[in-house]
Amino acid sequence: LRVGVIFGGRSGEHEVSLMSSRSVLNVLSPEKYEVTQIGITLEGMWVTGENVWKALKSGQVKGLSQAVLLPYPGETILYALRNGTLEPVTTLDVIFPVLHGTFGEDGTLQGLLEMADCAYVGAGVLGSAVGMDKGLFKDVMRAHGLPVADSVLVTRKQLEQNLSEVIEQVERLGEYPFFTKPANLGSSVGITKCHSRSELYEGLLEAARYDRRILIERGVPDAREIEVSVLGNDEPIASVPGEIVPGDEFYSYEAKYLMETSKLLIPAPLSEALSERIRQLAIQAYRAIDCAGMARVDFLVNRNTGECFINEINTIPGFTAISMYPKLWEASGISYTALIDRLIELALE
Ligand code: DAL
Ligand code: MG
Repeated sequence: LRVGVIFGGRSGEHEVSLMSSRSVLNVLSPEKYEVTQIGITLEGMWVTGENVWKALKSGQVKGLSQAVLLPYPGETILYALRNGTLEPVTTLDVIFPVLHGTFGEDGTLQGLLEMADCAYVGAGVLGSAVGMDKGLFKDVMRAHGLPVADSVLVTRKQLEQNLSEVIEQVERLGEYPFFTKPANLGSSVGITKCHSRSELYEGLLEAARYDRRILIERGVPDAREIEVSVLGNDEPIASVPGEIVPGDEFYSYEAKYLMETSKLLIPAPLSEALSERIRQLAIQAYRAIDCAGMARVDFLVNRNTGECFINEINTIPGFTAISMYPKLWEASGISYTALIDRLIELALE
């Protein structure tokens, strides 16, 4: 099977994608798969050739060719642009996008792959786009009667025009703390936990640096961070839940990738009933946005009351060998290698 693995990308999670894709590339067995690496630079250029991953990691892409996918029904041919001429590199049976965040996980790449008639791993255009936008995702959850924390969504323009009205609107949600988030980013980039009005003000401006849509959420008191992996197309299954014990005040970018103090508890110490409820909610959330292939659904659970809130869905979750998504499957009886095989099968269904 000829697999194209796409990584890098134009997002704040470029580096995270390099970490995830290194693990995926390492386990795609040469006996089963003929792998072509396709890199996307931070500037957005698609590149192919020898050792693309290494070139992207070191920022030295000069020796590579520009990669081009053209819409051609029934066949996916990858071309390299050399000296002004398109030369076919390979035909691909399936593409595995290992890209996180904007222009990778948000439906834009999926749209391009649909246009080019390529089979690909993971959610389609709709599921990816709704999954990426934290504001719209919450609206869909609410419409399905699924539990999410109270929130308001504002635009950068509203902040510029009437900041004090936005602050009043947020404070009507209840007590501090609030979380301010760019609606469309991953890995907690641009997220602030705000304990006071002045921190809220700072947090709003910080989130507005990254996105024109800003989500402000009421913090869940004494929240435990619980995550569930979901796998499948029309009949998705859920893994055992896992828990993150962040080394920081919440599971921030630093706590995720730079500090070594966050701990993963797998399986999460939960009662049988709570664990089952969370797994069912994860599948309902997955179905509600028409997800496919895979996703990790993240929850906030009140430590005292056991009340559960769906926090977000990640349609291309972190995928290093020590990331939560594959770890939860391992604990549920599916090895990392078997998981990759299954995702490729699901893409071709
Ligand atoms: N956005 C990161 C990769 C995650 O959710 O795992
Ligand atoms: Mg995320």
